[in-house]
Amino acid sequence: MENGSRQGRGFTLWFTGLSGAGKTTISEIIERELRLRFGKIEVLDGDIVRTNLSKGLSFSKEDRDTNVLRIGFVAGLLTRNGVGVIVSAISPYKEAREKVRQNIGEDFIEIFVDAPIEVCAERDVKGLYKKAFSGEIKGFTGVSDPYEPPAAPELHIKTNEEEPQESARRVISYLEEQGYLLPVEEFSRT
Ligand code: ADX
Repeated sequence: MENGSRQGRGFTLWFTGLSGAGKTTISEIIERELRLRFGKIEVLDGDIVRTNLSKGLSFSKEDRDTNVLRIGFVAGLLTRNGVGVIVSAISPYKEAREKVRQNIGEDFIEIFVDAPIEVCAERDVKGLYKKAFSGEIKGFTGVSDPYEPPAAPELHIKTNEEEPQESARRVISYLEEQGYLLPVEEFSRT
């Protein structure tokens, strides 16, 4: 696809991966840049969605799927109205992610934010891994609950091998290559 051919079209950047893999960190960098360069941006972050749209949902498979499908539903509405949507949710089950992909279509961009569980546990930004390993939290993704990695994500980011800035740059480059964003030669990323 030539540059510019999807200009003005909405898209959904769907970040999936373990807690602590870096989904939110990378998406915040991208959000800042896209607000300047794309304009209409909305962010749907699992942690925040679970305080409103998905309030009261548990971490059972059924409730996680419900959470993911709700986020996907809203992302779809926004995407088809020309908004750039940034989703960060563990979204551990392949089938639910595929349903969202089908709903949104070609503007769905799946980004696997990948880090070994030991690295996530070491970072333990929210102190939840400690509780998961001790059994205080049950059914914690990657520890005592499954995570099904995407088989063919549009982008695969290994956060223990590159800095968040570099990962964010790759996502932005992808949007440029696919024609959603006009390339800016001298755009400052500081
Ligand atoms: S999802 O599985 O439904 O996609 P979501 O991204 O919304 O998950 O929420 C994940 C966040 O909830 C984690 O980053 C963590 O802060 C918190 N959390 C609380 N309990 C769990 C759990 N059992 N498994 C995973 N995350 C949990």
